[in-house]
Amino acid sequence: MKREMDLMIDRDSMPVFTKKEFLLFRDFISKKSGIYFDEGMMSVLKTGLDARLLQKNLKDYYGYYNFLNSVVGEEEFKELLDHITINETKFFRHTEQFNVLREKVLPELFHKKMNNAKQIRIWSAGCSTGEEVYSVAMTVKDVLPLTEGWQIYILGTDVNKPSLKTAKEAVYGKRSLSLIDEEHLKRYFEPYDEDRYRVKENIRNMVKFSYSNLIDETYPGAIIGGWDIIFCRNVTIYFNIELTKKIIEKFYNNLVDDGYFFIGGSEILPSVNVKFSTVKEGGIFYYQKKRECETTKKKKKVFGGHRERKDNKIEKFDSEKYYKEALFLYEKGFLEESLRLLDKAKKYSEDASLYLMAANILFDEQKYDEAEKECLEGLKHDPLSYYIHFLLGTIHQKNNIPDEAIKEFRKSIYLEKEFVWAYLAMATVYIEDNQPELAMREINNAIWASEQVSKNNWVNINKNVLRDLTIKICKLLVAEKA
Ligand SMILES: C[S@@+](CC[C@H](N)C(=O)[O-])C[C@H]1O[C@@H](n2cnc3c(N)ncnc32)[C@H](O)[C@@H]1O
Repeated sequence: MKREMDLMIDRDSMPVFTKKEFLLFRDFISKKSGIYFDEGMMSVLKTGLDARLLQKNLKDYYGYYNFLNSVVGEEEFKELLDHITINETKFFRHTEQFNVLREKVLPELFHKKMNNAKQIRIWSAGCSTGEEVYSVAMTVKDVLPLTEGWQIYILGTDVNKPSLKTAKEAVYGKRSLSLIDEEHLKRYFEPYDEDRYRVKENIRNMVKFSYSNLIDETYPGAIIGGWDIIFCRNVTIYFNIELTKKIIEKFYNNLVDDGYFFIGGSEILPSVNVKFSTVKEGGIFYYQKKRECETTKKKKKVFGGHRERKDNKIEKFDSEKYYKEALFLYEKGFLEESLRLLDKAKKYSEDASLYLMAANILFDEQKYDEAEKECLEGLKHDPLSYYIHFLLGTIHQKNNIPDEAIKEFRKSIYLEKEFVWAYLAMATVYIEDNQPELAMREINNAIWASEQVSKNNWVNINKNVLRDLTIKICKLLVAEKA
């Protein structure tokens, strides 16, 4: 809302706003923008109208109504919207949603797309002055520091033109920045003047802004294809229930299958749309587009499976028991026996850790091709296993395929950005490949990651992989000293 202007209005000099006039404007505005003023909001609407009456030198509300319906009415209506929309927003507002975006949604999306179209499309509908859009871009950068090779398309839209202008300028004061932590402030902002900051250019370049009214038939991106993630937070509070239903249905249709939808903290989706699946994570709810047939799809078996007994009865298969027994045999050095047991278990279970353990054993036996096969099979069951990607990278490194090794280590980091070993492994590949600067970068990343990981969370990696890695790093240090 253009508050400065509204504050300058001498209310006593303005005409009386009758109930009849209120209803006339309420219905007109609701039809054209979806924004619905209930009677409690009568004074908010009057303040906005008064500002426009003064600006246009008009004496009464009916005169202004006629003006809105004239040939220049469309442009004027946009001006009016600037006075009656509430654009309150902040960086990382509803922080938990950004945590989920950072920790779950984006890593999953990057992983899914990394082997085909490396394109991610995110839309913030009703973005106001841009804080939400830039927060999304910053979160993308948190997850994927190097975006080269990826097409990241982040769009912010709104009906409020001055808000869009502010968004493009990207200069913000204390109020907008009140939820930002020091690290993000340092990483993504630069001081602008005494008490304002500007979003850094690399983040500004990741986003686009444009005018779009959610009540319009076509939504942005309709031609190019669906959105992976849509944010529409604290916008539908303006709309009545019927319109909210319609708009949410359109969001649903504009998302790709499995696409995600985030709505404001106080807005409740299931009451207006039953098609979205609700995901509960990190203390919040968000929503996912799941096609109807998806819900009936066979559920992925992670732990256990079923096996047929001699008497044809089906019994539950306890893969964890087999895993533990195989691990015991492996640790005692009975590699063949352990492998045999794992093979047996794999017949009944799709548990990826069975494949991972087999791959580890084969790696120890220096049977790298067979270890690779186990890794690939394991990834079919759990594509998000960062440790399998890591082991696969190590195998490629052994086989002297540095590019493939780097790819796998990167995937591992996409999935677990504090996985220190993967950074160190990458550093060794770069050194072997005569790229000391890149190696140095990864060592710095490893230092950063080591500082993040809590003491209890160091992943215990295969001791032979660890030994190889240690030898390589020591050699590196010696070479550096020489
Ligand atoms: C309270 S702000 C929300 C900003 C941001 N999404 C957030 O949650 O921090 C609501 C925004 O919705 C916009 N808006 C209201 N009606 C709209 C419509 N019909 N189409 C597009 N944007 C609309 C307003 O202009 C305002 O900028």
